[in-house]
Amino acid sequence: MKLNITVIPGDGIGPEIIAEAKKVLDKVCDLYGHEISYKEVLMGGCSIDAYGKPLTDETIEAARSADAVLMGSIGGNTQTSPWYKLEPHLRPEAGLLGLRKALSLFANLRPAYLYPELKEACPLKEEMADRGFDMLIMRELTGGLYFGERSTKEVDGEMTAVDTLIYKESEIRRIAIKAFEVARKRRKSVISVDKANVLDSSRLWRKVVEEVRKDYPDVELSHMLVDNCAMQLVRDPAQFDVVLTENMFGDILSDEASMITGSIGMLPSASLNDSSFGLYEPSHGSAPDIAGKDIANPIATVLSAAMMLRYSFNLDKEADSIEEAVRQVLRDGYRTVDLLGAADAGSFKKVGCKEMGDLLVERIAVL
Ligand code: IPM
Ligand code: MG
Repeated sequence: MKLNITVIPGDGIGPEIIAEAKKVLDKVCDLYGHEISYKEVLMGGCSIDAYGKPLTDETIEAARSADAVLMGSIGGNTQTSPWYKLEPHLRPEAGLLGLRKALSLFANLRPAYLYPELKEACPLKEEMADRGFDMLIMRELTGGLYFGERSTKEVDGEMTAVDTLIYKESEIRRIAIKAFEVARKRRKSVISVDKANVLDSSRLWRKVVEEVRKDYPDVELSHMLVDNCAMQLVRDPAQFDVVLTENMFGDILSDEASMITGSIGMLPSASLNDSSFGLYEPSHGSAPDIAGKDIANPIATVLSAAMMLRYSFNLDKEADSIEEAVRQVLRDGYRTVDLLGAADAGSFKKVGCKEMGDLLVERIAVL
């Protein structure tokens, strides 16, 4: 198969982790007889530096014309980087939001799985870590507060800022369908998260999710308020299979879910539209404080590449081979620094970003 990939290395640790993911993809394609080609483009801070804006038409076109996009991370230190002195629509994050919107990437899949090998790195009580968890957060990605109208202006003599949380029925329906479809391939349970005790948008969310559910009688559905969900994630994460939620709640809950897996450096994500096209990126950010030091964990990006093979190309075996290599490398005791945490560092082999990539490449095999 021919795979045409547009690559957005981005800022901070982005280029380092992307380099490792490409090494792994090259090995997989070599072993399984696929032809992969990459086109690299700029987005985020590096695009601001080069072109004065975070997202150019050329980058949108390069993304659109590829089979899939593999991304590192964008953005810088919000306290110190000159990028954050620019108007909000010219900052790095606006590039990512613009690309998500331009390509209608409304479904953001963020799996949070506790590898048994990483139990020690899980900050929860031992009994919770022992039980393990395996959930998938289905986050709506092109609506809600992120894309509603906003303004900051003087009203009655004082500065007043407004953000709008807006959802149309059709936007809720299409993401709910994605959640039920993916639940069918998992443990057939959806927990829809909202704030229906306060927000109109959440009450509509609940109603539409209930309607969609009628087509999926084999899938269990329950509703949970977002504040309760934040608590349940650290109290009993094993109860979650598919978590369906709107854009902002999903942003926050997915960071929380990632942290209980031991490190935010482990979590991949896929952003999909209604075709097989997708944008794949780690759930974590650009970590400017550790950029260029060869200590970043490339696993989330490598696992994002696996999701790309699975969702955009239907190459399940190839994706399995990457996920198996990750399990193997953890089983063999290799850890980037983020995975060592409070655990007994002495019993593990501490490695950098490049070495982790090499170790993964060594373990890619035909299954
Ligand atoms: C994420 C990030 C983005 C978001 C930022 C960088 C705009 O936090 O992908 O979770 O809020 O969606
Ligand atoms: Mg986020």
